[in-house]
Amino acid sequence: TVLVVDFGAQYAQLIARRVREARVFSEIVPSDMPVAEMLAKNPAAIILSGGPSSVYAENAPSIDRALFEAGVPVFGMCYGFQLMARVLGGTVDNSGAREYGRTDLAVSKAASTLFEGTPSEQVVWMSHGDACSAAPEGFEVTASTDVVPVAAFENDERKLFGVQYHPEVMHSTHGQQVLEHFLYRGAGITPNWTMTNVVDEQLALIREQVGTKRAICGLSGGVDSAVAAALVQKAIGAQLTCVYVDHGLMRKGETEQVEKDFVAATGIQLKVVDASERFLSALAGVSDPEQKRKIIGREFIRVFEQAQAEIVAEAGADGEDVAFLVQGTLYPDVVESGGGTGTANIKSHHNVGGLPDDIEFELIEPLRKLFKDEVRMVGQELGLPDEIIQRQPFPGPGLGIRIVGEVTRDRLDLLREADAIARAELTAAGLDREIWQCPVVLLADVHSVGVQGDGRTYGHPIVLRPVSSEDAMTADWSRLPYDVLGRISTRITNEVSDVNRVVLDITSKPPGTIEWE
Ligand code: XMP
Repeated sequence: TVLVVDFGAQYAQLIARRVREARVFSEIVPSDMPVAEMLAKNPAAIILSGGPSSVYAENAPSIDRALFEAGVPVFGMCYGFQLMARVLGGTVDNSGAREYGRTDLAVSKAASTLFEGTPSEQVVWMSHGDACSAAPEGFEVTASTDVVPVAAFENDERKLFGVQYHPEVMHSTHGQQVLEHFLYRGAGITPNWTMTNVVDEQLALIREQVGTKRAICGLSGGVDSAVAAALVQKAIGAQLTCVYVDHGLMRKGETEQVEKDFVAATGIQLKVVDASERFLSALAGVSDPEQKRKIIGREFIRVFEQAQAEIVAEAGADGEDVAFLVQGTLYPDVVESGGGTGTANIKSHHNVGGLPDDIEFELIEPLRKLFKDEVRMVGQELGLPDEIIQRQPFPGPGLGIRIVGEVTRDRLDLLREADAIARAELTAAGLDREIWQCPVVLLADVHSVGVQGDGRTYGHPIVLRPVSSEDAMTADWSRLPYDVLGRISTRITNEVSDVNRVVLDITSKPPGTIEWE
């Protein structure tokens, strides 16, 4: 394992993904984890991420010097680089030498561990206010820019390396190469982490965890739960029953499609539970997003408990037998819900933060350490078809978090129609693979004046939120062709009653999240 020490912002996740792209397993740990605990994980290397603080600020996160004295190779990036410089006796100052964005880096030592084989001039992405003006003793400066004399340094003997810039971002042209040089050459790691290993490891773990008991799996129709279910089915076969909860918050035709595609691909027996009545009454009168998420999470579990009872009764076994609940929780869900990294809670994902305290199942979460693109690779490895693996993400709470305001049956019907039109037009235009997903949102609490037919209308706006993304952690709004947008707008305002306006969300993430709630 390579540990990525998280100094804030979301650089750590991107770094962790880049390390995995180099076929080395990585894990994110919070910067306040004691060094002894980090070392107890026996890391092959440690990376110190960037972060928003100044090393001088009061309460700025720091790191114990012991980290650099344990013989474990360390790579500091941006804030991590400055911290390393400061802790080891170099000079970091606030001289006004700041750089943001594209910067030209001049490599002064071509034969360095990090830069070998990369050009002597390369474009990197910087974001810093403080700068290192003198490297610690024993370190060699390997690169500089017009503004900062020490933009990279290394101490080969102690296996300590650092760069002022962000090698993990795409705009740093040789960033991945530099990172791989650190992993392979600096730390001597052999890249051998593959999805085949993940599958084998998980199969063994699941079999050991479940033994002869039985598990149920909530299938949402999304990639994550489908891959989790297929993985668990491969491990324990008929001991698994899948339950599909129709919470009434699904898109048009979705339930039928899931039944058809998934059963055809896996042969798993699927129990479909119609629970829309129950979800809608629990949601009545609620407009607060966090509350909606909590309610939906709670009802999910309740429905599973009922399904469990029924499955047990049908099987004629005794109730203790069905002890496990499989969930398709992903690494970003875990990190964003504040699980294990100390980062801020941004939203309660219904399958993590939204779980009630009195849950009676033991969880099986075989994808808990994986990013989305890795889950797709696992799906491929398991032989799932593209219709399942390449599906665009859809949130567990469904349309419930795409109605801004109270969720009612009428509003759901309206949103379902608008969403079906948008999806049909995007598919017809061949844009499904280009966009990551396109939430369609009903602003139910907003009215706007329109003129339709001969009269004044007072209807609701529909928001289109097409985004491109690599992992949903960051996203940009998709520049869709105007004629496609035009067709969607005309059709929605013509065909969906009570909607007299269609608007386009042109916000990236951050600052906006992908979903509106
Ligand atoms: P946000 O809105 O946080 O969404 O930028 C990031 C990605 O996660 C999906 N999403 C969810 N998925 N349960 C899920 O399974 C949830 O509670 C949930 N909330 C958001 C969202 O569609 C996007 O792909």
